[in-house]
Amino acid sequence: MGKMATPAQSCDYLDALFGQSGRTAVVTGASSGLGAEMARVLASAGGDVIVVARRENRLLELAESAADLPGSITPCAADLSGDDGLTAVAAAVSERGGCDVLVANAGTVEVGKVESMDDESFSRVLELNLTSQWRLSKTLFPWLAKSDAGRVINISSIYGILGPVRSGLSAYAASKHGLVGLTRTQAIEWAEQGITANAIAPGYFPTEMTEQLLASKAAQRLRELVPMARFGTARELAPALLFLASPASSYVTGTVLPVDGGWSTW
Ligand SMILES: NC(=O)c1ccc[n+]([C@@H]2O[C@H](COP(=O)([O-])OP(=O)(O)OC[C@H]3O[C@@H](n4cnc5c(N)ncnc54)[C@H](OP(=O)(O)O)[C@@H]3O)[C@@H](O)[C@H]2O)c1
Repeated sequence: MGKMATPAQSCDYLDALFGQSGRTAVVTGASSGLGAEMARVLASAGGDVIVVARRENRLLELAESAADLPGSITPCAADLSGDDGLTAVAAAVSERGGCDVLVANAGTVEVGKVESMDDESFSRVLELNLTSQWRLSKTLFPWLAKSDAGRVINISSIYGILGPVRSGLSAYAASKHGLVGLTRTQAIEWAEQGITANAIAPGYFPTEMTEQLLASKAAQRLRELVPMARFGTARELAPALLFLASPASSYVTGTVLPVDGGWSTW
């Protein structure tokens, strides 16, 4: 009969697999919603997390709320649509001396049907949801390559793998599909440096981005499209992130992990 692990031994085992202590993460779009929760989970696992978004007051509140966690949260106010924002993130990473995990989560949505959306609107969505994610990963690549376990996690969407059930999401769906293409390419090109790149494809989660929609009449139909018949909570997304960010997922790369209550399995 095999020996049973004592509780202390099993904690050490889990910590070796999923712990983030000694590791630095950058989480973009962390001033609200899914990004704020993902930053907290990484700090709860002992990671030092640089949180990026435009609303600095929100980032400061998040850092304060994390004071008791084993890791730390450091605000970095930056607009990722422009070069200045990238410079600010690079400076924050340089100050910490490294980056092991990039969670590319900042995102936006603008609604307009294919035939009527204007150029500026389409470009703004593509710029933040796709181009800035590529640019940031390129900026952080030297640090990720130096890490023992560099991880890129791109937050795509079920609309990055499937067509949108609501009309007007052409720019959003194009950007999120593009992000999946970027993820697969990062996985292949950066395998040599030991960096894994994966995407998470969330279904519908109540956040600032979706609160109006999910409080409207349309919510009932959307809920019916989820086999689990409910929307997700940010807490249910965070553990998927922790798996992909941790040393435990060392042989998992180029995948898209739906966290969607079964939406994508119909
Ligand atoms: N909620 C869902 O149902 C759902 C489903 C699938 C995928 N997603 C994806 O999940 C990610 C997070 O969305 P969420 O639902 O948590 O929405 P959210 O609460 O609106 O969060 C969006 C985040 O992006 C940041 N952001 C927006 N523009 C930015 C810019 N120019 N520079 C830097 N940061 C910027 C926002 O912060 P500031 O305004 O402070 O800059 C905010 O922290 C997005 O990529 C979204 O597409 C969400």
